[in-house]
Formats: sequence, structure tokens, C-alpha cells
Amino acid sequence: MKDITIAIDGFSSTGKSTIAKLLAKALGYVYVDSGAMYRAITFFAMKKGLITTEYFDREALISALPNAHVSFKFNSDLGFAEVYLNDENIEKNIRTLEVSNLVSIVAAVPEVRAQLVKIQKAIGKHKAVVMDGRDIGTVVFPDAELKIFMTASAETRALRRYNEIKNNGEDITLEAILENVQKRDHLDSTRKDSPLLKAEDAIEVDNSNVTIEEQFQNILKLVNSVLNA
Ligand code: CDP
Ligand code: CDP
Repeated sequence: MKDITIAIDGFSSTGKSTIAKLLAKALGYVYVDSGAMYRAITFFAMKKGLITTEYFDREALISALPNAHVSFKFNSDLGFAEVYLNDENIEKNIRTLEVSNLVSIVAAVPEVRAQLVKIQKAIGKHKAVVMDGRDIGTVVFPDAELKIFMTASAETRALRRYNEIKNNGEDITLEAILENVQKRDHLDSTRKDSPLLKAEDAIEVDNSNVTIEEQFQNILKLVNSVLNA
């Protein structure tokens, strides 16, 4: 059977990575969480003291970018790849609200995007990849055979993220998460370089009222129709 490229874009916490991981597993494809790469550069900038909630030394970050090597290594216990910054596994460092509150500022810098898009295109060169993010169907893989654009109401998304974070033991309020989700939606959709946009040929999927399993089965049908076309 032919290999295809699947691009999944959409607003924060719409369930992109959940579905992308399930699809990659079912198809034997590589899953790439492009958001983890922007989070990795944000973590790098934070460690270097280049960004806080009050301050961002954009030029210093651009100068330091050649020293920020972002890569993935497959974790066979988890069944998917984890993100590394200069050979250090930083999966546990990048999902905090602190990183979430700064990542959209870093992701708006064209030099950051250029560096990461280059890596993303290289990973997807031989197809058989499911990548999720904001600009996958528009910029990274404009020729992807299947493009999904995921949406869900902001309240549904914030509640899902809240439950996820609470289960991980992080102390946080639903209001703080809703604020972060809405702020990132706005920043990601209005930035100049590669804003979050539904590609013309993307299929929009609203999952506010469906379970993960129902959604997975619906999207698998779309995949099969592309594979059998
Ligand atoms: O998981 P969640 O949807 O909350 O976010 P993410 O996928 O981890 O992405 C974090 C942030 O990285 C987004 O809010 C965007 O600012 C940025 N991003 C981007 O600009 N382009 C991508 N292809 C992926 C993420
Ligand atoms: O990758 P993205 O930020 O778009 O979202 P995610 O991390 O895949 O999903 C955010 C949360 O929503 C996770 O805890 C999922 O388990 C949950 N979710 C859900 O409850 N129902 C869905 N239909 C999709 C996701």
C-alpha cells in the first residue's frame, strides 16, 4: 500500500496529538509533534534567560539559534518519539504552563520557524508520517494527501487540558488554562509568519462532542478513502 503524509492542524488542545499518535500507530507511520519543537526552543530561551513574561531578547535568541539542536528519539516503551534539546530529553520540561505562556511569542519569530520547518520537512521526506501543529498543511507539507483541521470550543478544550494537568498533579486553575488557550489561539492566528489557518483542501473536524474513539474511527475512514483512491 502506498505511503501518504497526514497533516493535522488546529487550535490548542483540540486533540490533535491524541489522534495523530493513534493514526501513526495504526498505520505504522512516524508521529511528529511539531509543537514540542517550538516548546523546546522556548525552553532553551528560558534557560538562557532570554525570555520571561516581562522580557524577550529576540535578537539574542536569533543569534543563539545555531546552538539549539532540536531532535526526536523513538522511545519504544511509549511507542512514540520524545523531543531532545542538545541531546537532553526535555519532554518533562516543555509541557508546563510557564512554557505554554511563552511559546506563541517564540513561535512567531521567522528565524525560529525557518530552523524548525527545515527539520520537519526532512523528517517527512519519505512520507509515512503524521505531523500535528499549526502550519503543517499550509507550510510544512502543502502537498500532504490528507489534511485535517481540528476544532472544538475553547471551554471544552480548556476543561480537557485541565483534567489532563490535574491528573499529572500540577496545581492549576481552569481559568488560567482557559486564558492560556484563548491567548495562544489569538497569537497563533494573527502572527505574520505562517499563521494558524485552515488549508483550502483541509477537512474540518469539530470534536467538541465526540469521544476520542469515535473521532479516531471517523478520521481512519478518511485515511482509508485516500489510501484506496
Ligand atoms: O498541544 P497544544 O495544542 O497546546 O500546543 P502545541 O502543539 O504543543 O504547540 C505549542 C505552540 O507552538 C503553539 O501554541 C504555537 O504557538 C506553536 N506551534 C507553531 O507555531 N507551529 C506549529 N507547527 C506547532 C506549534
Ligand atoms: O494536541 P492537542 O493540543 O491538540 O490536544 P491533545 O493533547 O491531543 O488533547 C488534549 C486533551 O483532550 C487530552 O487530554 C485528550 O485526552 C483530550 N481529548 C478528549 O477528551 N476528547 C477528544 N475527542 C480529544 C481529546
